[in-house]
Amino acid sequence: MLVNATEMLKKAHEGHYAVAQFNINNLEWTKAVLKACEEMKSPVILGVSEGAAKYMCGFKTVADMVKNIHDQMGITVPVALHLDHGTYEGAKACIEAGFTSVMFDGSHYAIDENIAKSKEIIEYAHSKGISVECEVGGIGGTEDGVTSNGEVADPQECKRINDLGCDFLAAGIGNIHGKYPADWKGLNFEVLGEVQKACEGTPLVLHGGSGIPKDQILKAISLGVSKINVNTELQLEFAAATRKYIEAGKDVEGKGYDPRKLLAPGADAIVAKCKSMVEEFGSANKA
Ligand code: 13P
Repeated sequence: MLVNATEMLKKAHEGHYAVAQFNINNLEWTKAVLKACEEMKSPVILGVSEGAAKYMCGFKTVADMVKNIHDQMGITVPVALHLDHGTYEGAKACIEAGFTSVMFDGSHYAIDENIAKSKEIIEYAHSKGISVECEVGGIGGTEDGVTSNGEVADPQECKRINDLGCDFLAAGIGNIHGKYPADWKGLNFEVLGEVQKACEGTPLVLHGGSGIPKDQILKAISLGVSKINVNTELQLEFAAATRKYIEAGKDVEGKGYDPRKLLAPGADAIVAKCKSMVEEFGSANKA
C-alpha cells in the first residue's frame, strides 16, 4: 500500500537524514526507482509533475500504474506518490485520483494569496489523510517549461505558511532546477538556518537536488532538510547510458532494437544513481 510522506519525513527529520523524492517519467522510471529503494531498504517519494502526469495520460493513470507496479513488485519499503509543484486545481485532482501526498506551489502568488490557497489545500488533503508540501520563495531554473529566476525565501513568510500545518516546507535558498551553472553561488545556509528556526520541527525540502556538491547536501541535512528532490540527474544518467548503447551499435546487433533491451541500460543506470544518492542522503536501511 502506498503511504503518505508525513511519517517517513518526521523520522528522517528526527534521525538527521533525508528521503529522496525521485521524479518519475514513465513505467521504466517507476520500476527502476522502486527496485533501487527496495534493495537499499530505503523509504522513497515518487514525484510527478503536472507535465509528467499529462505525458503519462493523467493523474489517475499514474496513480493506478504506480499502485499496480508497487504491488506486483512486492515492494516492502514505505513509498509515497507525490504531486510535484502542483497548482491549486492539480492538487485537488491528485487527491481525488489516489495520490498519497501533494505539493501545492503557491510561491508565485503574493504571500496572502499563497497562505489562503495553501490553507484550503491543507484542510482538504488532511481530511483524506494526504500529506502536503507548501513553498515559499522561488526555485530558479526551468522545469517542465516553467522558468523562474529563483527568490530566496523570507523566513517570516515561511513561518506563516508553516503555522497553517503543512507537513513539510520548500523554501527557496538559491537552489535551481536543472543543471547548475558554473558560476552558481551555492546554497544560502544563512537563510536555511533562519527558516529552520522559524519553522522548528518541520521537515524542510530541498528542490533542485541534481548536481549539488556532497558537502552542501550534508550541511543542508544538518540544518533540517529531510526531503531532497531529484529529477535532472536521473534523466542525464538514462540518456548517457542509452546513447552509449546506440553508439556501440548494440541496437542493430541481433534483436538489440527490442525496447526491453534498448531501454535496459538506461534503466540500470537509474537504479545505480538512485542507490548512490540514497547512500549519500543517509536513508539506506531506514525503511
Ligand atoms: P532537478 O531536476 O534539478 O533535480 O530538480 C528536481 C526538483 O526539484 C523537482 O521538484
